[in-house]
Amino acid sequence: MYIPQEIIRAKRDGKKLSEQQILNFVDGLVTGKFNDAQVGSMAMAIFQQGMHTEEIVQLTHAMMNSGDVISWPELDKPVVDKHSTGGVGDKVSFMLAAIVASCGAYVPMISGRGLGHTGGTSDKLESINGFNVQPSISDFKRITKELGVAIISQTDNLAPADKRLYGIRDVTATVESIPLITASILSKKLAAGLDALVMDVKVGNGAMMQNIDDATALAKSIVNVANDAGVNTQAIITDMNQVLGSTAGNALEMKETVDYLTGKQREPRLHQVTCQLASAMLINTNIANSHESAMEKIDHVLTSGKAAELFNQMIAELGGPTDFIDNPWESMTKASVIEDVLASEHGYISAMQTRDIGMAVVGMKGGRIANGQKIDHSVGFDRILPLGTLVNKGDVIARVHANDKNTANNAKIQYEQACTLSDSQPEIQPVIHKII
Ligand code: URA
Repeated sequence: MYIPQEIIRAKRDGKKLSEQQILNFVDGLVTGKFNDAQVGSMAMAIFQQGMHTEEIVQLTHAMMNSGDVISWPELDKPVVDKHSTGGVGDKVSFMLAAIVASCGAYVPMISGRGLGHTGGTSDKLESINGFNVQPSISDFKRITKELGVAIISQTDNLAPADKRLYGIRDVTATVESIPLITASILSKKLAAGLDALVMDVKVGNGAMMQNIDDATALAKSIVNVANDAGVNTQAIITDMNQVLGSTAGNALEMKETVDYLTGKQREPRLHQVTCQLASAMLINTNIANSHESAMEKIDHVLTSGKAAELFNQMIAELGGPTDFIDNPWESMTKASVIEDVLASEHGYISAMQTRDIGMAVVGMKGGRIANGQKIDHSVGFDRILPLGTLVNKGDVIARVHANDKNTANNAKIQYEQACTLSDSQPEIQPVIHKII
């Protein structure tokens, strides 16, 4: 028998929680013995007071053990995944999973839905008619074994304590807490039975972490806790002060993925992030012994078409069409109103309010404003020009995809307002900030 308010009180007063108190809190999350108000208070107490590394490790393990823990004894090669803290236009998971599996690792990827202004990998996959993001665990394991890769959505039984805590954090202004983010991400990743993990910690105006110090602290926390749990983990801090790639929106990002894998179009910053993360995954699983040898392997599976073919097979195995790579729009819905966003004056695109662009996609119903809401996969932006581009008045700086004129107009205004044009050439942040 434990009393929730006594555990909350201890954390509120800045005390270090005992392992038993943490186990009780996680038990309370799963059983409901902590009601929503008590979970919210506990999240706020942790947000305000922080946690010692030992407490974060205990919280992570307790949340991991709150549901299924998958293992892969049948696989003869390393099991690796990457996780991103979330951004706008971040479709790296698709390229990465296909590339790294083509190079010989197993990539069972359990992905999330959109959150706030950020898009979700599972939502993007659901743009494809028939794609099933929730197969049975036995199908998930079979496909991973046969193809080397399967990307699915988080199941109800994987870290259910995180599911409840996350939902409450989302509505109690307690998301941006390093101990809570660490435990949330790693409870799910450790439950997936990985040998190695690469974290993409985003920093900038479209990310959860707005400055490099906070991003570094989060990256270090995740790397320490994961390595301590026996998962070989590295973090890469990447820039989110502009949309990654040239699209933002579910189906449009799947189309950009196809163009990337087939070599039709590879936006340079997207390519750099993909290669850096893929290289780290290959080195951490001993498939490559240096960045140079990793890059050779990556280049080979991209130019030979092996990664594109594998991605296509995975789509088909999970219920999608058999020719997605060749005819992506045959199995996705296009928006009915497509309009150009024009530069209002001559100048360099010098800043992007990336979060606002993500929210413009949400405003077109490309993301959710309430839990479980149905979304419109067809909406978003494409032909997004990167920061530093010099444009003339009237040049196209992006295109909006919407399903009625009014929505398209609003989104156009929001996009224009999110971009700053200036006379002088801006200094562009490198896309890779730091490796931890
Ligand atoms: N992603 C998660 O899964 N959890 C967090 O707390 C933040 C990002």
